[in-house]
Amino acid sequence: MVDLAPTTAPALARFAAAGVSDRGHSVPGSFFEPLPAGADAYILSDILHDWDDDHCRTILSRCRDAAGPHGAIIVIEPLLSTAGTAMDLFMLMCFGGRERTIEELAALAASCGLTLRGSTPVSAGRTALQLSV
Ligand SMILES: C[S@@+](CC[C@H](N)C(=O)[O-])C[C@H]1O[C@@H](n2cnc3c(N)ncnc32)[C@H](O)[C@@H]1O
Repeated sequence: MVDLAPTTAPALARFAAAGVSDRGHSVPGSFFEPLPAGADAYILSDILHDWDDDHCRTILSRCRDAAGPHGAIIVIEPLLSTAGTAMDLFMLMCFGGRERTIEELAALAASCGLTLRGSTPVSAGRTALQLSV
């Protein structure tokens, strides 16, 4: 897991308390900077809707560069159709972000050289999109 340092430190403690330190670890860093390379998959869960399109392109490009030709990028997001206009406006007001349709997420990905390979509904009203180069 990569997140800002104030988040990764307590995450490490949670992993240890749950006895899963051998299965997961957290690394302080920013998704606007180069990410650890070579993982099988990079999961962005509830990340892109916090950001405008330009910031999303940077985040997706960092993931693309780290994933390389064989890695996958999994984007888990509420879609505009399920989140609704009120949440869309809330994200705009609080973060300068927005809820997006699958087509908008696919277009963002395409502008970073990524192709939408598939999508499936997951829990809590989210949809998982699989992207790769
Ligand atoms: C809406 S939360 C999503 C948390 C979690 N992924 C989830 O699905 O519940 C957004 C997360 O992005 C992290 N974040 C914000 N700016 C970041 C950055 N530049 N680099 C890495 N993580 C960042 C925040 O610390 C926070 O944990």
